[in-house]
Amino acid sequence: MEKPTEIMVKQTRLSLAQGDITRQNTDAIVNAANSSLMGDSGVDGAIHRAGGPAILEECKQIVARQGRLPTGRAVITTGGNLKAKYVIHTVGPVWHGGGQGEPELLASAYRESLKLASQRNLTSVSFPSISTGAYGYPVADAARVALKTVLTFLQNETTSLKEVVFVLYDARTYETYRVALEELAK
Ligand code: APR
Repeated sequence: MEKPTEIMVKQTRLSLAQGDITRQNTDAIVNAANSSLMGDSGVDGAIHRAGGPAILEECKQIVARQGRLPTGRAVITTGGNLKAKYVIHTVGPVWHGGGQGEPELLASAYRESLKLASQRNLTSVSFPSISTGAYGYPVADAARVALKTVLTFLQNETTSLKEVVFVLYDARTYETYRVALEELAK
């Protein structure tokens, strides 16, 4: 039987795709940013490159207004030139071995992003695999936290979201998330 790459959670479809998140046409895409919100390498760099200077301009205004973005929190800006109307910037934890609150902080990054999307009445949002690149979070552990957090949110919160997509860049990450979703859907 085909392994699940999507499940329905109440009215919302939760699915996995392999690809480049900057090409997604969901209402919002989520950026795995850092606290400075200045754009860097990885998915953060790709989003700023594809979206153009309007995103960085708004990020600067946010930091001027409220300071650096703490780990586990999220803010929203324009999507600039992207197909997505908005970018939700969140900061995942740096992996220090798992004993420094990393799972809770990673869960918070997903939850706060979903809350923002719901507050803005968005119907669709795409996530990358937060923290599993430069920040070194082991992918299998991160996948379990990510999927479980989204699933729990969709089960328990009232939300406008009809579609949540994980856009995984490489085949190994995609496969790891697929196995984690399969486990979770059992
Ligand atoms: N689309 C989807 N996923 C992508 C893309 C893309 N275009 N580019 C990279 N990725 C994937 C990576 O392969 C990895 O699986 O995103 C995942 C997260 O990796 P990082 O971008 O390194 O994010 P993270 O581990 O959270 O580290 C954040 O890196 O880019 C900097 O400014 C960012 O300092 C921050 C840190």
